[in-house]
Amino acid sequence: MSPPLFVEAGVAMAACLAGLHRDAFSGRRERAWSAAEFVGLLSSPGCFAIAARADDGDAGFALARVVLDEAELLTIGVASAHRRRGVASGLLARAMAACATRGAAMLFLEVAADNDAALGLYRASGFHVVGRRVGYFPGQSSPIDGLTMRADLVSAGGAAPDA
Ligand SMILES: CC(C)(COP(=O)(O)OP(=O)(O)OC[C@H]1O[C@@H](n2cnc3c(N)ncnc32)[C@H](O)[C@@H]1OP(=O)(O)O)[C@@H](O)C(=O)NCCC(=O)NCCS
Repeated sequence: MSPPLFVEAGVAMAACLAGLHRDAFSGRRERAWSAAEFVGLLSSPGCFAIAARADDGDAGFALARVVLDEAELLTIGVASAHRRRGVASGLLARAMAACATRGAAMLFLEVAADNDAALGLYRASGFHVVGRRVGYFPGQSSPIDGLTMRADLVSAGGAAPDA
């Protein structure tokens, strides 16, 4: 199988992003985001998305927002059939490079403390925990803490992954 193709996803891909979000977060506590919500987000200042396409279909996406020298990873997800093939690592590397190109020096995100897959991904991508919000996410028996993570970004002049 060929490596995935990474493309910037504008409002024209809102339905595709909503489908990927529904698949990626199925069975998790997050509700599915609608195409209209993606249109709204992608129309807001500083917000952009990157999608990954594999030979056998849409594989995943990342959505981020840059405000001055700070950026936030709003969400990232990979369709269940495409996991553990480096799709999220590729998306995150490209999102980090794109944030740096847009002027951000650091990228923040929020992750549930029990999301082992996401924590593994983020740690492997250079993020470290900088804050904890106790009981931030609803859990099945008790609330789950939210972890704030941060990565310092390579400046726009640094090495970036191929588009
Ligand atoms: C988290 C998620 C995006 C990872 O996507 P992925 O494409 O499978 O990740 P990758 O293949 O790029 O994995 C990169 C690294 O992350 C870690 N990782 C990924 N999945 C993991 C898992 N299930 N358990 C532990 N570590 C995991 C590993 O360190 C992995 O490197 P390795 O495969 O060399 O061991 C995917 O599981 C997902 O969509 N989950 C549901 C949505 C979600 O939780 N999003 C994050 C919200 S904060």
